[in-house]
Amino acid sequence: MLKIFATEKGTSSISLNKTMSEKRGVYQDIIENLPNPGLGLGLRSKHFNYILEHKPSVDWFEVISENFMDSGGRPRHVLNQLAEQYALVMHGVSLSIGSTDLLNITYLTKLKMLAKEVNPLWISDHLCWTGVNSLNTHDLLPVVLNEESLKHICIRINEVQDFLERPVVFENPSTYLTFRQSTINEWDFLRYMTEETGCGLLLDVNNVYVSGFNNDFDPIHYIEQLPHKSIVQMHIAGHQHCGNYIIDTHDRNVVQEVWKLFTLAWQLTGGVATLLEWDSNIPDFEDYHSELLKARNYMSAIFDQHIIPEKQDYKHAAVSNPVNFLVNDIKW
Ligand SMILES: [Fe+2]
Repeated sequence: MLKIFATEKGTSSISLNKTMSEKRGVYQDIIENLPNPGLGLGLRSKHFNYILEHKPSVDWFEVISENFMDSGGRPRHVLNQLAEQYALVMHGVSLSIGSTDLLNITYLTKLKMLAKEVNPLWISDHLCWTGVNSLNTHDLLPVVLNEESLKHICIRINEVQDFLERPVVFENPSTYLTFRQSTINEWDFLRYMTEETGCGLLLDVNNVYVSGFNNDFDPIHYIEQLPHKSIVQMHIAGHQHCGNYIIDTHDRNVVQEVWKLFTLAWQLTGGVATLLEWDSNIPDFEDYHSELLKARNYMSAIFDQHIIPEKQDYKHAAVSNPVNFLVNDIKW
């Protein structure tokens, strides 16, 4: 592996009173022993009433942290009710771990307070940046993948984990371009991140498929190369195929090719918490849940390594963003 740290920068702020390598070991241990709560759904305001009334047998819910950290009133009340009945995971979209801005302590403080309130199984965000100069674009932008950015990001992950006093889980993004300055494959970059910080990984299988098509890499090789012990969760989702590129729309059913990759990832990880993302054209709760439950059919399936991109679909162009509902605009 790369040895990117010559010094133990940041150890003066360690809340656990341990050296960086000791903490890395503690975090890795926590990550590798997190429970598998089963099959989960994203908590969407459209489904609040249904969930409260019917108490569906969903294993767990993933909540977009930003949709609740600034909101009181009914959304927070509903969240607190559900926290008593279901396992929750907090999924963020504004940490901006790849940015060159200073870490936003106001944001992290709110994140920590929300976690204290709802007691999530873990907190996740993305390998991305969302803006600079205090601007939040509300988009998950790709990072340059090289040794300089790896060091920069690992230092920031250490600082975030110190602040939150827990390991954080990072998701592979869907991307539409690569940078000339990148010298490390994304799967290696993610592995180095886990080795240097003890963080966990959220493997978005659909993102691997989307990015692989857009950037011309083999999604099977990507998944095979990841550090499987560090993967605590998977995402599956639908996307829109536009001919020579794919957009990660989260607005339709999961395609067969992504289910095939899910089978591979399930077998390599030994099975981890899995969540179906659906952020636009959100169906009724029962239809959403039934699409998720299809995952059961693919857990023990024989992996079919013939990954062939599905037919092109130019209709119903859409772009989704899960932060579009409920959240007050976040100003730093
Ligand atoms: Fe995702």
